[in-house]
Order: sequence, then structure tokens, then C-alpha cells
Amino acid sequence: AFQHLEQAPEDPILGVTVAYNKDPSPVKLNLGVGAYRTEEGKPLVLDVVRQAEELLIQDRSRYKEYIPIAGLVEFNKLSAKLILGDGSPAIGEKRVATAQCLTGTGSLRVGAEFLSKHYSQHIIYIPVPTWGNHPKIFNLGGLSVKTYRYYDPRTSGLDYEGMLEDLHAAPPGAIVLLHACAHNPTGVDPTQDQWEGIRQLIRLKGLLPFFDSAYQGFASGSLDADAYSVRLFVGDGGECLIAQSFAKNMGLYGERVGALSIVCRSATVATRVESQLKLVIRPMYSSPPIHGASIVATILSDRNLYYNWTVELKNMADRIISMRHQLYDALKARGTPGDWSHIIKQIGMFTFTGLNKDQVSFMTAEYHIYLTSDGRISMAGLSSKTVPHLADAIHAAVLR
Ligand code: LMR
Repeated sequence: AFQHLEQAPEDPILGVTVAYNKDPSPVKLNLGVGAYRTEEGKPLVLDVVRQAEELLIQDRSRYKEYIPIAGLVEFNKLSAKLILGDGSPAIGEKRVATAQCLTGTGSLRVGAEFLSKHYSQHIIYIPVPTWGNHPKIFNLGGLSVKTYRYYDPRTSGLDYEGMLEDLHAAPPGAIVLLHACAHNPTGVDPTQDQWEGIRQLIRLKGLLPFFDSAYQGFASGSLDADAYSVRLFVGDGGECLIAQSFAKNMGLYGERVGALSIVCRSATVATRVESQLKLVIRPMYSSPPIHGASIVATILSDRNLYYNWTVELKNMADRIISMRHQLYDALKARGTPGDWSHIIKQIGMFTFTGLNKDQVSFMTAEYHIYLTSDGRISMAGLSSKTVPHLADAIHAAVLR
């Protein structure tokens, strides 16, 4: 029945890890997927996560029963509070419908299917470039994908005018995907003033913002500062959707834990929205997994664990910033042609280097350094020990 099938290509991001795993070289370096590594190049389980897991194991009153279709109630409340802020009027007015989903991807997908069923406009605008999975998620979720200008390669910064022009030309009610902070793959975010300009235009045109918040706490090291854009939009009383992931900021990658929040006009609408979200979720995977969400709820509800989490998160963010400086200095020291200041200007997990496909292939073939073909480097995968190797590779690639 399947003889006609062709071999499908590997995923452009996760396939990088597949190739890396096959490479026997002792100096190989995986800077593909956005996953945090320690200075020793090892994955990190946060101390607070280990502590939360101990507490969960010790509590014999906990079972492995199915949890509700929309997930753990406590987790949903705490997740909404984390992104919208303490004392958020939208939460106080019960205008927020939240469903625990399978991390950012699952939240985006459930959001897309909900919109394609219940929202009048099926066009979604995504930035160029964006995370490679976005167009696929939205297409398969029943939406029709269009793009807006975002990154300007000439300045290695934001094409703010282009972005506003494209959103201005969008049809009424169109959905707009916004990266809440630490834009993936470029590491380029709007300034606070620019966010305000974007907000005014989106509200004026009656567009519907859909935030992807995968890096709260990773851009600046502050959970509140990284929620600035979302809170600005929610603060005006209007509607929006938010896909939230705990993969990066709690290091819970494999636990697949995240949330979709839909900020509505009234409590009555939010209740109905939640009931409809359940109809989207039930035939998809019935109900979400219990363990990751229990870890998150344990940490977010305990004052000490929460505080310790913010410290560990800041340490991760700071280590990435220090990698930026070390890589920049190493390229300067080698006299590598080009202006590399974007390495220190960009924020979050990634540097959008400007290296082209051929240069990337060269670095992989000759230096065993693995990154996505668009030249994105996961700074979180770098360490003081591996910076010189990467700088040598970039230097050689640029001089070819
Ligand atoms: C990335 O962009 O590397 C991450 O979001 C991981 C993924 O699933 O692609």
C-alpha cells in the first residue's frame, strides 16, 4: 500500500541533530536545535525541577489518572498569571480561557484549529523569516498563511517600516503571528516604542494578534520584561491568543508542556471559548500529559521554588549573553572580515549570523559544526571551550 512513497526529508531543525548524532568526530558541535547546554556541553535539568519532582514522588495522594481535557486547572491559572502578570485585569475579570497543550507547537496547533473553526478570517500573517514549523502548523491547522516583512539583512535588524506597511495592507480581521520576545531565528525584537506602533496599527485595523511565547525569561533574564509585548496588547482590553512553552525556560523540553490562552472580551465568552477548545482537543489527543504540568504548577505555586527558578533562569540567560561576547571577541581577534556586532545586539537563544548555505555546509563538512542552513546558531549550545573552534570555522568559511 505504501510502495509509492518517497523518502521524506529530515526536519530542517531536528534533522540537524540526527546528522550530528551520526558524526563520530570528537570535536563535533551541535548548534542546531535551540536547547540549553552547560559550560560542559551537557543538557541541564534545573535544580528546582529536580526538587519539584521529589515533592511529586513523595506525595502518595497523587495518581496517574487522566487529567481534564483542558489540562490541570492549577497549571492553567498559574501559566496565565505568569505571562499576563500579577493582578492582570483580564484574569481578574475572568476573560482568559486557558488550555494546557503540548508545549508551544501544540498550543499553536490547537489555536489554529480553533480559529479555523470559529473565527471569521482564516488568513494568518507570519514574519519573514520565522521558525520553520510555523507555516506548517498553521496550514495544517486550516489557516492560510501570508507573510509580513520583519528582518532586514542590510541592517541585521528589524524592518519596522516594511512590517507596518505589510500589516497595513492585511485584510480586516487577519490574524498576525508575533514572537513575544527573542524572535526565532533572528534574535531581533521590536523596541518598546515599536511595539506600541505595532499595537496601534493592529488594533486600528482590527487584526487579531497571536503571540508565540517560547522564550519568556530567556531574552533579558527577567520574566516580566520578556512579557512586555503580550501585556501591552492585553492592557488595552482587546483580544489576543498566546501560545506558551515551558520547554526552554524550565528546561522541560521532552515533557511537552505549554499552554494556549485566549484573552476574550468577557467572562461569558471565555467560558464558551474554553468549552470549544475542549472539542478541538478531545479528538486530537484526548487530554494532555500530567507530569510536566505538575512540575510547572509545583514550581509556580511555591514561593521558594519560584524564586530559585528565576535565579537559575537568569544564570542560563547570562551564560548565553557571555557566549555572545566571547564569540564576538574571538572573531575580532581573528580579524574575520565583516561587522559582527549583531552577535551581541541580538537577543535570546539564537544568533542569525548571516552565513549562507554554502558556508554552513563547509563548516559542517570541515569543522563538524552543525547548524541550520539559514545560518542560525544556537548560542545556548556553545561554551567557552568551543567558542575558538566555532570562531575558526566561521573565519575559514568567510574567507573561502
Ligand atoms: C528551535 O527552533 O530550535 C526550537 O524551537 C526547537 C524546535 O522544535 O525546532
